[in-house]
Amino acid sequence: MLTAGPAADAPGHDSSAAAEAPGHGFRRAAVIGAGLMGRGIAAVLASGGLDVILCDTEPDTVREAVAAARSRPAPAGGRGEISGSADLARAVQRADLVVEAVVEDLAVKQEVFAAVSAATPDAVLATNTSVLPVTAIAARAQGPGRVLGTHWWNPPDLIPVVEVIPGRLTAATVTERVISLLGYLGKTPVRVRRDVAGFIGNRLQHALWREAITLVADGICDAETADLVARNTVGLRLARMGPIENADYVGLDLTLAIHDAVLPALSAGREPSPLLRALVRRGELGAKTGHGFLPWGPGTRDTAARELAAHVQAQRPSGATRCCAALPAPPLPAPPSSGQSPSGTTQHSTPPRGSPE
Ligand SMILES: NC(=O)c1ccc[n+]([C@@H]2O[C@H](COP(=O)([O-])OP(=O)(O)OC[C@H]3O[C@@H](n4cnc5c(N)ncnc54)[C@H](O)[C@@H]3O)[C@@H](O)[C@H]2O)c1
Repeated sequence: MLTAGPAADAPGHDSSAAAEAPGHGFRRAAVIGAGLMGRGIAAVLASGGLDVILCDTEPDTVREAVAAARSRPAPAGGRGEISGSADLARAVQRADLVVEAVVEDLAVKQEVFAAVSAATPDAVLATNTSVLPVTAIAARAQGPGRVLGTHWWNPPDLIPVVEVIPGRLTAATVTERVISLLGYLGKTPVRVRRDVAGFIGNRLQHALWREAITLVADGICDAETADLVARNTVGLRLARMGPIENADYVGLDLTLAIHDAVLPALSAGREPSPLLRALVRRGELGAKTGHGFLPWGPGTRDTAARELAAHVQAQRPSGATRCCAALPAPPLPAPPSSGQSPSGTTQHSTPPRGSPE
């Protein structure tokens, strides 16, 4: 163990509180992979009273992740202990829930599930894979009935939805228990009915990214313009009106006419864009190397992370800072007839309802 003990900013936290497990029954979690997602997921689990051990192959990453997870705001009632270990078997031995958040590599994840399942015979095992089928990740696990996908989005403490993906062999009781935990944590768990690559959210997201990259590769616009148009057209509407409701809203006859005309022109590529491959080959990986489609000067990645978190936070129902606040969609405010609020400020909260162009 590298560290153990109550979180410094949770005075009065009594680890025996974890003994009074709520309905979902989870008390102790291990999060394997203490990078960007692992440390955020650990903070949310701890905010729900679970004692959490963060585990990574890199001891420095474990130390940094424990400090980062402890630095997140804790709920008023305190939170579970957050500790760390670079020893996988020790990290999981007392856990009743293990969340895997290592690199997005099927072979590495299969190896982790083989090792974790051998070290803990009864724990529920969840993968945070972004797109890989859960059944494939569970292929070498002992007891694949306890393996499922819980796809958290970044930043995990702010994005409400967690996709829950049962694999082909996952026991129904395991899925229900995890859904119960996520609800308890204030998340919006969404059940994915079939274990398909990309689940729901990343299929939607990467259909858009593929088209954006194609527009740039084909010289229709530059990278800045593709993002500017996406952010200031569909991007403004999406948080209020999803694509299915928007299709209904503008009329399915119009949607059909548009699809007849535009779908043959859209990218149907089954492979990543050659432009994307070339950038990666040249080591132009984006923010982490200083250049990708766009230039990323010193400090711009941190600024982008801060601005993104503030933007997501501002769109949440109450702008609450508590980890995993309740997340029902807020009712739409009644549109003021003059476009002015009682205080005279212009209302921007409701995106314009309009055509799909
Ligand atoms: N970054 C995102 O926006 C995002 C969003 C949702 C889901 N995910 C998924 O979450 C997972 C983690 O992504 P991330 O962005 O946190 O990655 P990351 O690179 O920040 O962290 C991964 C960590 O896993 C560790 N690791 C690698 N192999 C390991 C092993 N065998 N045992 C223990 N630790 C190991 C690495 O040292 C690293 O610290 C991936 O499957 C990714 O697809 C990422």
